[in-house]
Amino acid sequence: MVTLTIDGVEINVPEGTTLLEAAAQLGIDIPVICYHEATTANGLCRLCVVDVDGHRLLQPACVVECRDGAQVETRNDRVERSRRTILAMLDSAVELEEAPELQELLADYGADEISYPDSRPREHALLDDNPFYVRDYSQCVLCWRCVQVCAEDAQFTFALTLGERGYDTHVATSYDITMSESPCVFCGQCIGVCPTGALKPKVEWGMQQGLSAEEIRASTRQARKRRPAEDNPSE
Ligand code: SF4
Ligand code: FES
Repeated sequence: MVTLTIDGVEINVPEGTTLLEAAAQLGIDIPVICYHEATTANGLCRLCVVDVDGHRLLQPACVVECRDGAQVETRNDRVERSRRTILAMLDSAVELEEAPELQELLADYGADEISYPDSRPREHALLDDNPFYVRDYSQCVLCWRCVQVCAEDAQFTFALTLGERGYDTHVATSYDITMSESPCVFCGQCIGVCPTGALKPKVEWGMQQGLSAEEIRASTRQARKRRPAEDNPSE
């Protein structure tokens, strides 16, 4: 067991417990984006950072384990500033209108009052390439959850990977083939773990578009086998 103090409250936890798990035992809610209880934590988004012993670098609570004697602050000025910056940068590049939890966090941390006028939004064409769901990576925060749940964390299908590099990085299929051509078995687990509206069942998407029941049914039968030529100049 290790003993530490989180926000002034002492707690005993088994060795190997993460700061996120220990805080949860005390009823302290640390915000997360890339972390999901069903997937391996990789510490990608850094929204969960906390202050450990006042060290210069804030620590990602979802991957850092509790250490004996540590003094942890889950929300002080430094932590808030860091989270506010991350949220504001995400908001400047990604469409977050359909991510209610992130909208709450944007307001909570005052990130919705910050704007980066020179930012370049991540714009992607809607991918409608299978009978079951659509993908809109303009709404993707690159949390990696869908990729993980499609791979070793659950389905072992490996239909998803990353495309391009740097700012243009986005979730994709290998060689950019359609979902219907990929190993995807349409289990829907990626949709279940996505924290934004980037992945959507066709029925939900069709209703949002105002399509009739018959039009929605038709859309599930007539998914394009390939992307349209304008999305894929090589065709
Ligand atoms: S599509 Fe959704 S689950 Fe996948 S990386 Fe983007 S935000 Fe995360
Ligand atoms: S939730 Fe911890 S780094 Fe993303």
